[in-house]
Amino acid sequence: MAEYIEKAEIERQKTYLLKLKEQSNNFAIKNGRKPRANTETYGCQQNENDTERIRGILAEAGYEFVDKAEDADLVIYNTCAVRENAEDRVYGRLGILKHIKESKPELTIALCGCMVQQEHIVERIKKVHRHVDLIFGTHALYKLPELLYNTLCSKKMVIDTENSDGKIFEDMPILRDDNSKAWVSIMYGCNNFCSYCIVPYVRGRERSRKPEMILSEIKNLVADGVTEICLLGQNVNSYGKDLDEEIDFSDLLKMVNDIDGVERIRFMTSHPKDFGDKLIDTMATCQKVCHQLHLPFQAGNDRVLAEMNRKYTKEEYLEKIRKVKERIPDISLSTDIIVGFPTETNEEFLDTLDVLRKAEFDSVFSFIYSKREGTPAAKLDFVLTEEEIKKNFDKLLEVQNEISKKKNDAYVGKVFEVLVDGVSKNNDQMLSGRTDTAKIVNFKGDKSLCGKYVKVRVTESHTWSLNGEIVE
Ligand code: SAH
Ligand code: SF4
Ligand code: F3S
Repeated sequence: MAEYIEKAEIERQKTYLLKLKEQSNNFAIKNGRKPRANTETYGCQQNENDTERIRGILAEAGYEFVDKAEDADLVIYNTCAVRENAEDRVYGRLGILKHIKESKPELTIALCGCMVQQEHIVERIKKVHRHVDLIFGTHALYKLPELLYNTLCSKKMVIDTENSDGKIFEDMPILRDDNSKAWVSIMYGCNNFCSYCIVPYVRGRERSRKPEMILSEIKNLVADGVTEICLLGQNVNSYGKDLDEEIDFSDLLKMVNDIDGVERIRFMTSHPKDFGDKLIDTMATCQKVCHQLHLPFQAGNDRVLAEMNRKYTKEEYLEKIRKVKERIPDISLSTDIIVGFPTETNEEFLDTLDVLRKAEFDSVFSFIYSKREGTPAAKLDFVLTEEEIKKNFDKLLEVQNEISKKKNDAYVGKVFEVLVDGVSKNNDQMLSGRTDTAKIVNFKGDKSLCGKYVKVRVTESHTWSLNGEIVE
């Protein structure tokens, strides 16, 4: 059973929120404006959802938000550790912030999230990036009011990266970006320990939120006008395993499907080892569950999969894909793939291409393997050179792009219901939205349609998106 942060502790944090608010009021009297915060998020949807919590806390503490660090009094970067380039981007930003802080010494700089949940990173920041004022890890998010207050009152770097399995906290403020779609975390952490992956080390053990908490959050969202819900977890198929009551992910999906006002339900991510007939059946029978599935396979070769500790074979994976396609013929499929896992040979990589050709995904997120300190795979040797890995990566894109385009071609001429996400960045006459199957469609329309469902006939297909026109 997952542990919760006690109510008394949440109340204690709320007293710090009041103290912060008082400070913000004083700031406003002195400066004629509210203090300004700039937040940036790296990494996955879970991190985006955490940033919404951070922004909720800051809004409650009297901050307003700005898009640029240059205009801010407080900068918070919510970091990701999944690959080296995610960490390098943060170091790059820290260099820029150093310059800004030289001309604006009162700027407060905070780093949080997965990257700083690693000891060696915190040591490096303490040595090399002394201009950082606050560091807090993934398990300390609920403490942000206290930590920020202490930071503002002190001249020393404040650090809270306590390593725990992680507890769940409820009932803290949250400020969401989107009015029609919302992410709802149903569980935190991961127990799978895929041999290449840092996530279990920085996010703690799997812990499920109680269903009544999830359902009441969704009902409140619906009351605020949200119609599309994306249920989040590193492996949503494990939902409920740690709860006292008998409930699994399929049961939860059915409960969300029953909530009036919810129109679309999506979820991420599913681990293939726990993806089975019950869930396929639930997806097929629950009307609001979108015909979209993200099912990462990572690699096609059985020896590589075993070395990755993925706990399924190529054939088992393909069998699940066959079943889901048979039951839900218009399902749109996506996946994650790692190219260049240590020990992988060119011949073994051919199995990855074979899965691509057989599964026919609509889209693929492919990554070149990145060594993560402290994971078992970091000790393995490479068979392939960097050039060979890059060549395989390019080959994968070439094979997949053709499949993605072919999949999109099949949409042309048909009419789909699209939830309008927003106005195109380059042309304010153009709107962009998604079909039930998560295809991006661009079409002409008035911006008053944002957040609404419209019928769109697809007129043209590209590799990554579709063009269309509204059907009256
Ligand atoms: N929990 C999800 C994914 C989390 S990380 C799942 O298991 O599917 C998102 C993706 O990043 C993974 O699916 C994997 O493809 C990729 N990834 C994780 N660790 C990586 C590493 N060390 N190098 C390259 N890619 C990695
Ligand atoms: Fe990482 Fe594997 Fe957990 Fe996904 S399931 S977060 S890849 S350890
Ligand atoms: Fe990155 Fe942490 Fe998500 S490592 S992918 S932000 S869980």
